[in-house]
Amino acid sequence: MKRATVLGTGSCLPERKLTNFDLEQMVETSNEWITTRTGIHTRRIAGAGEENYLLAASAARRALRNAEVKPRDVDMVVVATMTPHMIMPSCACFVQAEIGAGNAFAYDINAACSGFLYGLDLADKYIVSRPDMKILLIGSETLSARINWQDRNTCILFGDGAGACVLSGGSRGHGIMDTDLRSDGRLWNLLYMNSPKSRNPNLEQSSHDCCYIQMTGRDVFKHAVKAMEGSVRELLRRNNLTMDDVALMIPHQANIRILHKLMERLGVAAEKVYINVDKYGNTSAASIPIALDEAHRQGLIRRGDKLLFCSFGGGFTWGSMLMNW
Ligand code: ACO
Repeated sequence: MKRATVLGTGSCLPERKLTNFDLEQMVETSNEWITTRTGIHTRRIAGAGEENYLLAASAARRALRNAEVKPRDVDMVVVATMTPHMIMPSCACFVQAEIGAGNAFAYDINAACSGFLYGLDLADKYIVSRPDMKILLIGSETLSARINWQDRNTCILFGDGAGACVLSGGSRGHGIMDTDLRSDGRLWNLLYMNSPKSRNPNLEQSSHDCCYIQMTGRDVFKHAVKAMEGSVRELLRRNNLTMDDVALMIPHQANIRILHKLMERLGVAAEKVYINVDKYGNTSAASIPIALDEAHRQGLIRRGDKLLFCSFGGGFTWGSMLMNW
């Protein structure tokens, strides 16, 4: 059976950098507080001409070039996002038009920060039934439009960006090996972002912050570490592997303390974990594909390496995946 294999990767970050020192001018915070609590130094903020679908399209073009696949040969475009610039049409349809993938069908998925991992699993399912399919999977967010820039609890954490990969059926033994996906909708109100015209009566009462990201940081922290640890352990157990078998772990870049705690609990050495949260903050569904593209372009991934992905986000949604490159 052929499984989904990555043929090429790409990413696109907005030009504008927002530093912790810039944030010191905007809310009552300090570079020291942000750095020690989150590990984030800068994040990118999308400006004019950097709408979500345009960042996504740029990342997609780079991934297609890297994969040596022509836009017209793409069969399916999926964008994982929770910040589409329109609810309808989907971001994926805009990307399709932008890059000229006229033979594809296109749609978005929303699993918050876990969106790209969910998308990889989805792509794998298509490819198992039709191994010659070329799937363009993108994680893209413009979270800066959905942040209350007066709320120091959240505005320091997030950033904008896009990452993409092209997937198709690989040779025997290569590609996605196994996935563990989970969610728990009962915990939705620990991390959420209302839509502008929600009829939820609880949310309608608050006038100014209703469409911004809302978060109970400490609870999110505890759930994130526990959930990702549990998922990774289960995935390794059922594949008879240990962390020693993993060449590189690419986690969702939420914040450095979550990642350090996770690494400590899993007993994984820092050299085996790709981290770029210091540069981009938390870019939600875009964080794993941006990190994957950077690691790929830096030559950190070799054929036959076992990669481990894991993520956690609003919903709650979380999971992990093993891939044999
Ligand atoms: N600057 C200075 N002080 C701040 C800031 C800030 N930016 N934000 C909060 N504080 C203050 C609080 O008001 C509080 O003050 P008080 O004690 O006078 O009330 C104090 O700092 C401590 O606040 P806590 O919220 O308890 O701080 P904590 O140590 O938990 O750190 C943080 C907050 C960084 C948000 C942490 O809870 C965290 O990392 N949570 C995970 C959140 C996350 O990563 N979410 C991303 C989305 S989910 C995902 O992607 C996995």
